[in-house]
Amino acid sequence: MSHEILANWNGVEMPLSEVTVSALDRGFLFGDGVYEVLRVYKGQPFLEAEHLERFRRSLDKISIVCQVDRLIERMQMTLENSGVTEGMIYMQVTRGAAPRTHRFPSGDVPPNELIYVEPMEVDHYAEAREQGAAVITVPDLRWKRCDIKSINLLANCMAAQQAAEQGCIEALLVNADGTVTEGSHTSVFGVRDGHVLTSPLSPSILPGITRGLVTRLAGRCGIPLHETSFSAEEIPQLDELFLTGTTAEVVPLIRVDGNLVNDGHPGPITRRLQRAYQEFVAESLSI
Ligand code: PDD
Repeated sequence: MSHEILANWNGVEMPLSEVTVSALDRGFLFGDGVYEVLRVYKGQPFLEAEHLERFRRSLDKISIVCQVDRLIERMQMTLENSGVTEGMIYMQVTRGAAPRTHRFPSGDVPPNELIYVEPMEVDHYAEAREQGAAVITVPDLRWKRCDIKSINLLANCMAAQQAAEQGCIEALLVNADGTVTEGSHTSVFGVRDGHVLTSPLSPSILPGITRGLVTRLAGRCGIPLHETSFSAEEIPQLDELFLTGTTAEVVPLIRVDGNLVNDGHPGPITRRLQRAYQEFVAESLSI
């Protein structure tokens, strides 16, 4: 495997470093596009159907017309040619390049379609998964359609940066009404009296693919789960907290805004769901 990250740009395979984008690309000018991130385990995309279904929904919701089946073929080809076994696939489609006007361009402007496959040489979450991680809470400054996996991520980036500056792995986003919606790039779960809580699906959160899997795994494990949000004020009453995401998997939280969760130790329900997640990955690879 070469060290170059392999990309497919509008149907042409090339090193990612050689992809050039028009300054009039609407993704570049307006953030007018959507994306998807998939994890690759042992050379196989994980929960591929679920990610692609969400990608189709994101495209539909912003009325970008694109042949997803063609993208899937390119994705499989790029993955194979990259030789990556442990890594992630990034997929992005923008409304294409056209003279700058806010309204969508008229006529046949082809979308710009990018796919790249990045090897994961280091698993940045490995220690957090084992030891538990610290987070902060910040106001959720995002727009009102967080269910769309839009490439507009400024509020998410600002929140993640604030967390990093405080030595934390993630920022939990808190709505004006005090509810915790999700993380800047992860879904959030709480545990209270043996019951798992997570925000219900709504335009305020991304329908996380890992979130969906973990809710199903909780069912398999006989752990009661409620799609009910909790507020930032209620965090001290939670017994456990954890994050989920494609690359994060399941990460226990042991500190929120400097206050310990479960005396600073990953809790038993989080550990059970981490094991169930690993078992599910192993199962899905052996099929
Ligand atoms: N982030 N919430 C937000 C705002 C996210 O950006 C993500 C994913 C998640 C978790 O979703 P999933 O389980 O489908 O990965 C929740 C991706 C990985 C990213 O932006 O890199």
